[in-house]
Amino acid sequence: MRLSVIGCGYLGAVHAAAMVELGHHVVGVDVDARKIEALSRGEAPFFEPGLPEILTSAIATGRLSFTTDMSQVKGAEVHFIAVGTPQKAGSNAADLTYVDAAIDDLIPFLSDGDVVVGKSTVPVGTAARLGHKVESGSGATLAWNPEFLREGYAVKDTVAPDRLVYGLPAGPNGDRARAALDVVYAKAISDGTPLVVTDYATAELVKVSANAFLATKISFINAMAEIAEATGADVTHLADAIGFDARIGRRFLNAGVGFGGGCLPKDIRAFRARAEELGVGDSISFLKNIDEINLRRRQKPVDILIEELGSLSGKKIAVLGLSFKPESDDIRDSPALDVAVNLHGLGATVAATDPEAIANSRAKHPQLNFVSSTQEALEGADAVVLVTEWREYRRLDPVAVGNLVRNKLIVDGRNVLDVDAWRASGWIYRGLGRP
Ligand code: UGA
Repeated sequence: MRLSVIGCGYLGAVHAAAMVELGHHVVGVDVDARKIEALSRGEAPFFEPGLPEILTSAIATGRLSFTTDMSQVKGAEVHFIAVGTPQKAGSNAADLTYVDAAIDDLIPFLSDGDVVVGKSTVPVGTAARLGHKVESGSGATLAWNPEFLREGYAVKDTVAPDRLVYGLPAGPNGDRARAALDVVYAKAISDGTPLVVTDYATAELVKVSANAFLATKISFINAMAEIAEATGADVTHLADAIGFDARIGRRFLNAGVGFGGGCLPKDIRAFRARAEELGVGDSISFLKNIDEINLRRRQKPVDILIEELGSLSGKKIAVLGLSFKPESDDIRDSPALDVAVNLHGLGATVAATDPEAIANSRAKHPQLNFVSSTQEALEGADAVVLVTEWREYRRLDPVAVGNLVRNKLIVDGRNVLDVDAWRASGWIYRGLGRP
């Protein structure tokens, strides 16, 4: 099938290459010429494991191309909208400028019978509005097909998703859109991927409620970490024990400096803003607490350092990790980067490092001192703070690290280190929510 993908960021670039893997012809469109040039050379403009490989192989098939010229989508039967919906400046709401612009730019090039498929995360009610725009401006139909990919696993999540959701209009147009999507996702469907076919509003809500649930799960365990800190309990044992209950489950119960990234934080805020507009703000007002708990936990490593060291002025602090999670160079709303910035603000000599996110971090916070090697960060440090649990930090040897630092104090902001091994090597080990 011939497809187009409008917007070639984290979502669209992966989607475009993955659709070629599934046997389709794809043209990717973006307004950013530099991004398009990089993608056309088979280079991923951001770090995502597996993406360079599938980009290169997809380009080699001759079935994947990238362009800034929207007219090139002509001839494609299905057009995916994969542009960003960031938080609006000065408000909790989502900024839909890019989604509207993508649809407006696309409409002149649509043919009768085409299907436009929204993948961006949008406030409920957006698809109905855009569906009207698409149908009145062309003979095409709009479907809403939210994306659940996780950064770091984006390729796998796109090629083999854990579920598919189609939000469709009622009637023959909806049937036609469904048939087109079934062809797009033929492989996943034949592999038995669960499929939920529903209306626009439900499809939009599935996406934001899934992210709200995940955020709630993380803030729940972080709230338990605060209680554990007041009582001498260990939140990691608590998470293990409650996680054995299959109704609860252990995943997303890792207490630490909390969630960040381009999705969870802004999605729960936009969800609240939309619910308030709809007059049902009270129904999800708890998401305000979820956000507050989350932001509060970023302060905890800093508080622990002050408790242990007194004034931080002039102290060298090694900050391990800057991206919002491992296997990503994304620093949007990153708890790790916030910790580094706060420490710097308190007069500490921060030596911040990360396997992939230094360039992005430096562009946003040039005032920080970045070092490219873990060893350089650790040498002569008065304290070490682990804030993004990259594999190389999880595997650090307490004895070897002890020979590099000036003072054996480690704050484990992700609770991933072996407490006993670090303490046995003479370290003061401080986790979050554990004694
Ligand atoms: C999230 C969702 O997991 C995806 O399903 C969704 O498609 C995506 O948002 C999106 O809306 O596009 P992602 O932002 O890539 O994916 O990251 P997650 O793996 O969900 O992690 C989010 C944050 O939560 C990270 O900062 C991570 O460190 C933190 N986290 C995760 C915890 O603090 N504790 C945990 O137990 C799990």
